[in-house]
Amino acid sequence: MENNNRQSIWEKVEPLLLSGKQKDYLLHSRIVERAMKEIISGEGGQSDILIPAAILHDVGWSEVSPDLQLAEDEANKHRALVEHIEKAPPIIRKILSELGYDKDIIQKIIDLVIAHKFTDPKEKDKQMLIDADTLSDTYKESFYSDVKSYNSTSRKNWEFCSKNTFYTKTAREIFEKQLNERLKEIEEAESKINYSNRL
Ligand SMILES: [Fe+2]
Ligand SMILES: [Fe+2]
Repeated sequence: MENNNRQSIWEKVEPLLLSGKQKDYLLHSRIVERAMKEIISGEGGQSDILIPAAILHDVGWSEVSPDLQLAEDEANKHRALVEHIEKAPPIIRKILSELGYDKDIIQKIIDLVIAHKFTDPKEKDKQMLIDADTLSDTYKESFYSDVKSYNSTSRKNWEFCSKNTFYTKTAREIFEKQLNERLKEIEEAESKINYSNRL
């Protein structure tokens, strides 16, 4: 996919992602784009559909009310997740039409985005977006950003991430590698703490 196309999507989507409350959706979406590129290089696929879908997949959060985004009870958490999917299509249609995207391509991108939550798709491209979304959480920047956003610890976040499952072989392989790197960092940090406690 051409760089200036990607760049113009980013320019439109960045301000919208900044209104996300629960976590840093701008960082998250950038890392999902990176994960998607890496998955495409192993699995193949149409990058002119898959990359925009990765960049835009969480844009629906921009129209979920701040209170609902930060809800702590299960029913409202679920409602928020449903809304971030439901609100996405018109936003994506507007952004991509303004950029002169073809109607059919826009629809394909929307179909991928709305399948990234609550589905277990058979189509490879839909599986790849779900994999990129899940995989992104184990990359260094996202991992430690989530530790802060969710008031968690590196160890707890690692255990949470380690339960993730994937559709594609490429995503699974990158995941194992990233997870090992995070574990090394965590063990190193813990051994430093133990050492200084002994002094
Ligand atoms: Fe999402
Ligand atoms: Fe996401």
